[in-house]
Amino acid sequence: MTSSSFILKGCIAFSEGSKSIVTYRGGYVVCVDGICKGAFSEFPKRYENLPLVDCKNQLIIPGMTDLHVHAPQYTFRGIGMDEELLEWLSKYTFPEEAKYSDLSYARKAYGYFAEDLRRCFTTRAVVFATLHNEATVELMDQLDKTGVITYVGKVNMDRNGGVGLEEESAEASLQATLEWLEQIQGKYTNTMPILTPRFIPSCSDELMKGLGKLSAEKGLRIQSHLSENQSEIAWVKELVPSSTSYANAYEIFDTMGTAELPTIMAHCVYSDEEEMAILKKHGAYIAHCADSNMNLASGIAPIRKFLDAGINIGLGTDVAAGSSMNMIKTMLISLQASKMYYRLVDADVKPLSFEEMFYLATMGGGSYFGKVGSFKDGYEFDAVVIDDSKMYSMRDMSVRERIERMVYNDADAFITDKYVKGNKIYSSAE
Ligand code: GUN
Ligand code: FE
Repeated sequence: MTSSSFILKGCIAFSEGSKSIVTYRGGYVVCVDGICKGAFSEFPKRYENLPLVDCKNQLIIPGMTDLHVHAPQYTFRGIGMDEELLEWLSKYTFPEEAKYSDLSYARKAYGYFAEDLRRCFTTRAVVFATLHNEATVELMDQLDKTGVITYVGKVNMDRNGGVGLEEESAEASLQATLEWLEQIQGKYTNTMPILTPRFIPSCSDELMKGLGKLSAEKGLRIQSHLSENQSEIAWVKELVPSSTSYANAYEIFDTMGTAELPTIMAHCVYSDEEEMAILKKHGAYIAHCADSNMNLASGIAPIRKFLDAGINIGLGTDVAAGSSMNMIKTMLISLQASKMYYRLVDADVKPLSFEEMFYLATMGGGSYFGKVGSFKDGYEFDAVVIDDSKMYSMRDMSVRERIERMVYNDADAFITDKYVKGNKIYSSAE
């Protein structure tokens, strides 16, 4: 057995499905060669030869998956938040991303992103870079070293990017994509490429079709944005007049994916029955980005409907429209958003329970990466050990209460150790 075989002892919480959270106080979770062999209330004797790490009264939960985050936007998070999507993109985001033509700028900024990603609750992430090949490879180099498992996309955009953030033509964008894929071929352990048409307003029909074809030919997944904002949706209708919906426009270009190569669509705030049917048919994932949707006043996505319809769904921070990479904060805002949807929009759409939100942050998004996001037998061993001892209480709290409290008040929940596939990639003691 390799060094990634061990047992953690502590206060364990994980999902097995969306309706309940399994907890063990003073329980054990076993990792053998990077794979979880299950969690137990009693010491599992058959693993008695493995080293035991006693985490005492700390919480031990599965790592979280951030299904949608923009690495080049990290360093301007939390500012310029008084605009709506299209104005925010042209005023702040595109000018910032244009700076990544400068490799030394990219190296420094991506250094901040990669290090903070290593330190947060996220063990898996699906990441947008910019359209620049050199900077994207730099980001992938840095992310691979963190041990966090990621998909990273060189962004495609051949229209409406403004000064300095537009590829010359569909052909040039596709050619750059091929060159990027060639450059990184076989280079990484933890980092994988994903095709990334920014959204339909950024990509000509020819470029979209070319990316759809490339995805099928090379077996590459796709990520993009869908139905985030009403002005955006109206614009897409003008740009692709034959489409019956925004989702259908992606379908027309063969970029909605398949169950084997699922596309991630961020947002889906305004996805109706037709779009839901398209997402479901293709096995696509919705990246629910509630923090971003609040900040840009985009709206509230009806995630209860998506979940009940059996559509794949996980959470995204969508930095920098979302202001933080902290998945715990994203869970809280997503919970609050679903409560307000119920109260203000549709009383028939019940708020998500805490159990459902914990599931989305761990197993829901994790399933995009395979058997990820749970301590069930056979899952890849991603775990976060958390010290919440500074959250004083006047009584003895259950593990379930402690994880709920951590989400509703993240201020004093400190990550002690973080494991990905059984490798410890961060420790507060380092
Ligand atoms: N739609 C197209 N690009 C972006 C982006 O960078 N952020 C968000 N939130 N939406 C987008
Ligand atoms: Fe986004």
